Amino acid sequence: MKKITVIGTGYVGLVSGACFSEIGNRVICCDVDARKIDLLKKGEIPIYEPGLDQLVEKNTERGMLLFTTEVGEAIEASDIIYIAVGTPMSETGEADMRYVMSAAKKIGEHLNGYKIIVNKSTVPVGTGELVREVVQANKRNPWTQFDVVSNPEFLREGSAISDCMNMDRAVIGSDSEAAREIIAELHAPFRTRIFKTDLESAEMIKYAANTFLATKISFINAIANICERVGADVTDVAEGMGLDSRIGSKFLQAGIGYGGSCFPKDTYALAHIADKAGYDFELLKSVIRTNQRQRLVVLDKLRGTLGSLAGKQIAVLGLAFKPDTDDMRYAPSLTIIPELLKQGAGVRAYDPIAAVTARRELPESVHYCDSIEQAVTGADVCVILTEWKEVLQMDMARLKKLMNQPLIVDGRNCFSLAAMQELGIQYHSVGRRPVHAAERDRQSVNF
Ligand code: UDX
Repeated sequence: MKKITVIGTGYVGLVSGACFSEIGNRVICCDVDARKIDLLKKGEIPIYEPGLDQLVEKNTERGMLLFTTEVGEAIEASDIIYIAVGTPMSETGEADMRYVMSAAKKIGEHLNGYKIIVNKSTVPVGTGELVREVVQANKRNPWTQFDVVSNPEFLREGSAISDCMNMDRAVIGSDSEAAREIIAELHAPFRTRIFKTDLESAEMIKYAANTFLATKISFINAIANICERVGADVTDVAEGMGLDSRIGSKFLQAGIGYGGSCFPKDTYALAHIADKAGYDFELLKSVIRTNQRQRLVVLDKLRGTLGSLAGKQIAVLGLAFKPDTDDMRYAPSLTIIPELLKQGAGVRAYDPIAAVTARRELPESVHYCDSIEQAVTGADVCVILTEWKEVLQMDMARLKKLMNQPLIVDGRNCFSLAAMQELGIQYHSVGRRPVHAAERDRQSVNF
């Protein structure tokens, strides 16, 4: 059993803390936000993440997971200190390092014996060294030793617990072999592949992995746009490409682009890191531009089918940046919905989880509905922005009856063209040919 303190009870800190306690460590999660800590002490989880509430409840009850605002005391009572505070995107696109630096200062002030300081926040290359300097400058006893490790996280929202318990690999970067060994030992119960490297390379791995995945998405979206123009089907193209084991089938789902707390932030941050290091990362800048433009394909398709959007009733299904989360950060809906309203359309939105968060972000004139049925009733078009399970399983025949006209613009390629054709629904998706409502009748005449 190791004694661990996790500074920062955001997404990464809370999930990592809960999982470390689940595998038998005593974990203190701390935060300067007293309201958050109060909620967590009562077993209330401030974010939506499937399975996290049970994990927190179980480990709090057995005394393996504690919450506190007393960061200093927590540091003194632990041997391993994880920094998992936010590194939000600053106005320039760089990562804002304020919270990491203040955590490092606090650790220095409370360094009462040898500790391993582990960075889990996504930070620019070189931050580990900075953390070392700040701790060194603030420690009370000049003889007290410590090591700094980078152990980046690769959790996906919505499946973070299983991603953590069954991680593909643990990247552990440090210049101290002893510290790397202790952090490797900590990960042993996860039965994962351990990859040891130096501090800077570990920091770079996190950015390189995330921006590579973002590149895959922008690449397939660009291919989708070409497919539409030359009459190919991007879902078949992606499947055919993915069968090559060098390419792999994952992250080739075309749509309206990536959002969320990581990819937008990390792509901007790495472009900045590269610029600062004197390298113009043109490829990554194109990935970012392609992603921004991809959100607009939904608007183009709507204008292409409806002409003017003024006075049209638009049912929007899904607001979150992806299913199984209430996270609205950089969600395509934040770009698309204000534009629909600006063009004079009425928006009837439905999201099973994210509506509460969405209200804070979207214009007041959005009408929020309690069900898919309510949103689509009387709508001129149904726009799909998030592929929630509920959306994938909706009763299409019923939807057709409730809508003013059977027209769907699908930003996530949720349905097969054959099924839409069979139902007589006019269906526009991304990178595939449109299905016209009259097509079924035309075909039946031909037969
Ligand atoms: C991501 C990384 O996967 C994770 O390793 C990292 O630590 C944090 O960032 P997350 O943001 O939770 O995780 O979501 P993810 O499932 O990776 O999806 C990111 C975005 O890409 C979503 O908006 C999703 O809709 C989009 N996406 C994903 C696609 O458009 N197509 C795909 O094929 C895959």
